[in-house]
Amino acid sequence: MDLPTPRGALTETLFGALRSGDDFFAVLSSLPEATPDDAALALWTLHQLHYRDLTGVPEDLEWDPQLLRARAVLERDLEQRLRARYTPPSGVSFTDDLFDWVAEHDGASLATHVHRDATREQVLELTRVRSIYHLMESDPTVWVLPRLGVRAKAGLMELLYDEYGAGNPNRLHHHLFARGMEASGLDASYGTYIDEAPLEVLEQNNAMTLFGLHRRLRGAALGHLASFEATSSLPSRRMVQGLERLGLPQELVDYYAEHIEADAVHEQLAVHVICQALLDEDPRLEADLWFGAFTCLDLEDRFARSMLSRWEIEEAVA
Ligand SMILES: [Fe+2]
Ligand SMILES: [Fe+2]
Repeated sequence: MDLPTPRGALTETLFGALRSGDDFFAVLSSLPEATPDDAALALWTLHQLHYRDLTGVPEDLEWDPQLLRARAVLERDLEQRLRARYTPPSGVSFTDDLFDWVAEHDGASLATHVHRDATREQVLELTRVRSIYHLMESDPTVWVLPRLGVRAKAGLMELLYDEYGAGNPNRLHHHLFARGMEASGLDASYGTYIDEAPLEVLEQNNAMTLFGLHRRLRGAALGHLASFEATSSLPSRRMVQGLERLGLPQELVDYYAEHIEADAVHEQLAVHVICQALLDEDPRLEADLWFGAFTCLDLEDRFARSMLSRWEIEEAVA
């Protein structure tokens, strides 16, 4: 993919350095003045080095020590911000109480808006900005796999096998989303719409990759996964109804239809098999399971509010 349009002095400097393969000192020295948008785009781009080709950027920069240093500073700031937003729940057990806790923490809902009121243009805009995650759906979670013990690993592999199409490329979830985009007249090449993505989308993606890439954050990664799966089935049903109301292509409907049933299974697998096995391995990880679960809901709520305010719509709640 092409490098995005810079959003400030940091990404201006970083993208110049990535293209030239040097001058990384300037990147490190422009970190302190970066705005939130600029810092989030810089981290998102540095994470992309681990996933795919960036046009004009040498591949060996993936493990450049100075770029890793810059990535570490940006990740530390992000993690501090995410932890500062979070208050740990008390008197609850992750595997017994997550579903009730999720039900009590419902935030702004884009699916409810799509179901009832969204215009075709709004749904296409949502599809473009969501493509930043959905065209690489599950990829950040795969980093966690080798860090788990036998039972958690087998459970996560079962869930991911389904996400990746159970051996059939046509059932692979991010490919289903790509087909929905193409049928809707959108470009499904990864990253095409990054310049439209608000800060909240960058933060969602950055948080997932941060949790995935750091072994010490495996609890947060799996808590995020559990929360993500537990908030997918019902909204997916609303998305299907909204897309059908607007007459959007069947391929796009199919992506959400797939998630109505799949995620009703995945949420049980995530909580009662994967997270339970992780806790059996190391009960101290319960705190980070909650942190990851909270972060998933909080970032989705922030994203939903940013889109609804972009469209000048009063908050739609589930
Ligand atoms: Fe999926
Ligand atoms: Fe899923």
